[in-house]
Amino acid sequence: MTTVLEGRNLSKFYPVSRGIFREPASVKALIGADFRLEAGKTLAVVGESGCGKSTLARLVTMIEEPTAGDLFIDGKQAEPGAESRKAVQIVFQNPYGSLNPRQKVGYILEEPLLLNTNDSASERRAKAEEMMVRVGLRPEHYDRYPHMFSGGQRQRIAIARALMLRPRILVLDEPVSALDLSIQAQVLNILMDLQSEFGLAYLFISHDLSVVKHIADDVMVMYLGKVVEQGSAKQVFANPRHPYTQALLSATPVADPGHIKKRIPLSGELPSPLKPPSGCAFHPRCWLADSKCKSETPVLDSGAHKTACFHPLDGNPETGAEVGKGH
Ligand SMILES: Nc1ncnc2c1ncn2[C@@H]1O[C@H](COP(=O)(O)OP(=O)(O)OP(=O)(O)O)[C@@H](O)[C@H]1O
Ligand SMILES: [Mg+2]
Repeated sequence: MTTVLEGRNLSKFYPVSRGIFREPASVKALIGADFRLEAGKTLAVVGESGCGKSTLARLVTMIEEPTAGDLFIDGKQAEPGAESRKAVQIVFQNPYGSLNPRQKVGYILEEPLLLNTNDSASERRAKAEEMMVRVGLRPEHYDRYPHMFSGGQRQRIAIARALMLRPRILVLDEPVSALDLSIQAQVLNILMDLQSEFGLAYLFISHDLSVVKHIADDVMVMYLGKVVEQGSAKQVFANPRHPYTQALLSATPVADPGHIKKRIPLSGELPSPLKPPSGCAFHPRCWLADSKCKSETPVLDSGAHKTACFHPLDGNPETGAEVGKGH
């Protein structure tokens, strides 16, 4: 396997002012993430709002610089610039906000070529129309404006635009969360087709495990800026080890209506990342927490299926869901 993207100890702290009489604090949005993304594969990043998913996306796409740690693209230290822009592209959640309403679809698609290549106008147009077909849009709609398309179609436009420079890595930050359920499946199917067609690697961000289950090869579960569980989708879904992953999974609907699943309620509010709990940050919400969890911080263990927990669970027959691409 070829690793196309690697993060080593990637961290991002945002300074926040707390008024003139107090020391400035920092929000630890991402703390020491280590991960690898293989060519043609999907690494899913899951967790509740504010756990650092989009921060990771901003670092990987070099919209922001990490506070610490390293990022490698194709084994080379990543640097902002044209080279990286061609290798890594991003699709955001909101297809309404991410497309310029005053630009026609044709221009939206051609702009990356205009800025980064020497293609002639006719070459650009040909490539734009070809990409429209590949994402299931009609090339006759080349002169239409974004408002003339549905949400699902707009997200196809955003995906097509992201692919115009033929990147090897696509960061998808909640790409279907704003869409109706029926449309979500269509867009996910297109993403899977495009992945095999272009050999794309996806960093797929989502808070929704039922979406991730369909598309992920590997999964990284985050809580308050830290990776708490990491492994293949098969391992994580069939045998979640961290209590937080178990709780997230128990809230995911199962396709089989005869299947009764025990729901683990997540008690308490998500703590503020400005003032994370001591020890294991999950301990105030964890039903297994003891005094050690309150005072000591667990680190990710080694092995293919990792977790950062003093009381990892082994086995979850409750989920019983089929996992993997195509389900
Ligand atoms: N520029 C910034 N300045 C200060 N804090 C920030 C900044 N950007 C993000 N944060 C904080 O960092 C934490 C992680 O934010 P991030 O956007 O990565 O979360 P997320 O997992 O993408 O959440 P969501 O699911 O809501 O999109 C949050 O607590 C957020 O408030
Ligand atoms: Mg986000």
